[in-house]
Amino acid sequence: MNSFPSLLESIDDLSKIQIEELLTLSTHFLHNKPTPGPPNYLQPVIATSFLENSTRTKHSFAIAIQRLGSIYIDFNAETSSLKKGESLEETFLTLYNQGVDLCIFRSSVSNQLAKFKKSPPIKIINGGDGTNEHPTQALLDLFTLLEFSKELHGKTIAIFGDIIHSRVTHSLLKLLPHFGLKIILCGPKYFMPEFSTISKDIKVTQNRDEAIMASDFLYLLRIQQERHSENQFQNTHSNDYHHDYGIKLSHLKHLNKLIPIFHPGPANIGIELDHELIKSSLYQGYNQVKNSVPVRMAIIKSMLSNNDKNIGIINGEKF
Ligand code: CP
Repeated sequence: MNSFPSLLESIDDLSKIQIEELLTLSTHFLHNKPTPGPPNYLQPVIATSFLENSTRTKHSFAIAIQRLGSIYIDFNAETSSLKKGESLEETFLTLYNQGVDLCIFRSSVSNQLAKFKKSPPIKIINGGDGTNEHPTQALLDLFTLLEFSKELHGKTIAIFGDIIHSRVTHSLLKLLPHFGLKIILCGPKYFMPEFSTISKDIKVTQNRDEAIMASDFLYLLRIQQERHSENQFQNTHSNDYHHDYGIKLSHLKHLNKLIPIFHPGPANIGIELDHELIKSSLYQGYNQVKNSVPVRMAIIKSMLSNNDKNIGIINGEKF
């Protein structure tokens, strides 16, 4: 069996067996406190390096790192030498040679990590890169879905909103079919990917009620204005979006479809959902947040334990 990767950039980096092992370890961390490890100076050192804003991902990783007994470094990109033009590779190699074992990295730029796949300068977990992927969010979403139904085969989830700019969706589209979950994408045409890039098993619709009625779970996305080019979606007025695609508790009651509502956060109340829905027991956003810590503990633990010696290599040599 392949060992756990030292660079988790994409869901594609994991086999189904590795994903199942992560789910088992996450359940363990959800129900058990880790046992105290060796003295602090022997503990792994782990850095978060977030070049883009975050509340959920960064802080749940910070908590996961400390719950595992590791030493936590909050690498501040704004005050770092990245601002003096140092490359990402030099930055990672510098952290590695200072004794950092693993770095969780977020950036608004897509696909910056792929070049490190062959020879990672440091162990890296992608905490979300541009519109590309957010694999750890997708894994904690799967973990939360499995709390509702141990068997997801034959179930359907509708993902609503700004699909093309959603790195979470790009990871979910790779992850959920492994577990037999059918996917519907719903939203305005201009938020949908090219049909040629969508698997034939995935249904696309512009009809909100059709998507709701066919689903067991709904997954709502934020409209990601910060990833839109200027005036790209001038017609995306929040009020229109809320009217056409927003999910309201009263409407779900009217359809007699009181099903779990997932959201990776941050949620914009009054756009993709209403205040009544986010305050209702259907809303799973906080359960996703709760599960983010044990799932991220499992990912860190698995990566640290992989015994990969091919880290921090410079021009074929390890210094
Ligand atoms: N889901 C998510 O990535 O949220 P943050 O941007 O707050 O980390």
